[in-house]
Amino acid sequence: MTALTLSTSSAAALRADAVVVGVAKGPKGPVVAPGAEAVDEAFSGKLAATLETLGATGAEGEVTKLPAPSGVKAPVVLAVGLGDVPAKGDGYAAEALRKAAGAAARALAGSKKAAFALPAAEVADAEAVAQGALLGAYAYNAYRGNGDKNGNGVKEPLAEVALVGGKPRDKAFKAAAARAVALAEEVNRARDLINMPSNDLFPKSFATIVQQAAKEHGLKVEVLDEKALAKGGYGGIMGVGQGSANPPRLVKVAYTNPKAKKHLAFVGKGITYDSGGISLKPAGHNETMKCDMSGAAAVFAAVVAAAKLGVETNVTGWLALAENMPSGSATRPGDVLRMYSGKTVEVLNTDAEGRLVLADAITRASQENPDAIIDVATLTGAMVLALGHRHFGIMANDDDFRTAVHGIAEEVGEPSWPMPLPAELRRGMDSPVADIANMGDRMGGGLVAGLFLKEFVGDGITWAHLDIAGPAFHEGAPFGYTPKGGTGTGVRTLVRIAEQAAEGTIL
Ligand code: BES
Ligand code: MN
Ligand code: ZN
Repeated sequence: MTALTLSTSSAAALRADAVVVGVAKGPKGPVVAPGAEAVDEAFSGKLAATLETLGATGAEGEVTKLPAPSGVKAPVVLAVGLGDVPAKGDGYAAEALRKAAGAAARALAGSKKAAFALPAAEVADAEAVAQGALLGAYAYNAYRGNGDKNGNGVKEPLAEVALVGGKPRDKAFKAAAARAVALAEEVNRARDLINMPSNDLFPKSFATIVQQAAKEHGLKVEVLDEKALAKGGYGGIMGVGQGSANPPRLVKVAYTNPKAKKHLAFVGKGITYDSGGISLKPAGHNETMKCDMSGAAAVFAAVVAAAKLGVETNVTGWLALAENMPSGSATRPGDVLRMYSGKTVEVLNTDAEGRLVLADAITRASQENPDAIIDVATLTGAMVLALGHRHFGIMANDDDFRTAVHGIAEEVGEPSWPMPLPAELRRGMDSPVADIANMGDRMGGGLVAGLFLKEFVGDGITWAHLDIAGPAFHEGAPFGYTPKGGTGTGVRTLVRIAEQAAEGTIL
């Protein structure tokens, strides 16, 4: 990953390929943001005027490169838009700083080192800038090495982000920088897994990757293979996985802290490829379905992040891993599965597979009686129809908890929206042969899926469900610190939930 260094020298004095400054949109034109004072001085105080001449406005995401004047060591000054100037007395919003730093880092792909002279006097500002830069610099080049030699136009990500203008000797500042690095590493770990093609990432190889990371970070892992799953009665996971040459796994990865007062269970949908099964997806709907394990990737990364940060909450991750394929051994529409909970499910549509693997994992997670279960899943196309590609939906069996999770997601910069679980939609899943069907009304399909999961949550356990089908995989042009492909959405929300559980502000 891109390295983060904390510099004591001024933005003008640092040797780098570029120096990044912030520019905001003021009522009378662009305004240079705090942190850029030394650079502005080298422009004789005319940086804002120069930018205006070049047509810059300070709009969010705007990137303007200009040659550095004498007095600035770096050859290039990159001004990045921060959006509207904050109201008097307010600092820049953390998300505005993350996005701007991300856009700048992205624009500097191919460079070795950039000095970031964005607002960093406050510890929280420095953390936001560092995190945004490290996330924005990300690119998935694992399958197209050799730089530009293969004619693929690939540039190496910016190698080093040097933060200037902060207090690198200050303890709180160092801690904030370390936190930014840990979170960015883990979001990027999730992105790497999501982007890895399904011919290399399948349940068994995913489980091996978890085992390796667990060794490194002192986590406890248990892997149930197809034999153990069959013997244990995991009818949901087996029913989805039985059609594939790559058999399913249930992976438990646990972080414990001796000071913990709370225990959280994170459950991730880990369909390493979703073809739809016998209810096969049509062409046009399956090209990006390697992303259907984004929930499991987020859960795994969040557990590692909790360990790296030493969060004082016990966190158990449950990864429900399977490949959903059509074959002679696949579950047929109309088949009835006996789930790990004992409930029977009539599978009307084999493409509604996520809820089947999650149901077993949620039942299993419930047996440990955690203080809360949070599942993360690319569960329904209906949620994408409802909320678009940037927001995930939050459902829960507890209104206060749903509100709290929404607030946390907002704080960390993961857009989301609360969604209801209307009881009347349960009837649509009534089955003439089984306890429940895996499909119900098409209208409100995301909520129907949520209601299905709710039936598998242990009595009295607080539960929230994040349907990340929209934002998990980004197909458009990169923006802010969001690259193309896997986004890692959910990771930062889960980690913050664990931190707040430790602080006693939730649950
Ligand atoms: N993995 C898909 C949901 C999905 C859609 C994720 C788009 C990411 C982007 C899920 O398994 C699925 O196929 N859901 C069906 C359920 C339906 C058959 C009840 C859907 O949403 O169409
Ligand atoms: Mn599906
Ligand atoms: Zn799926």
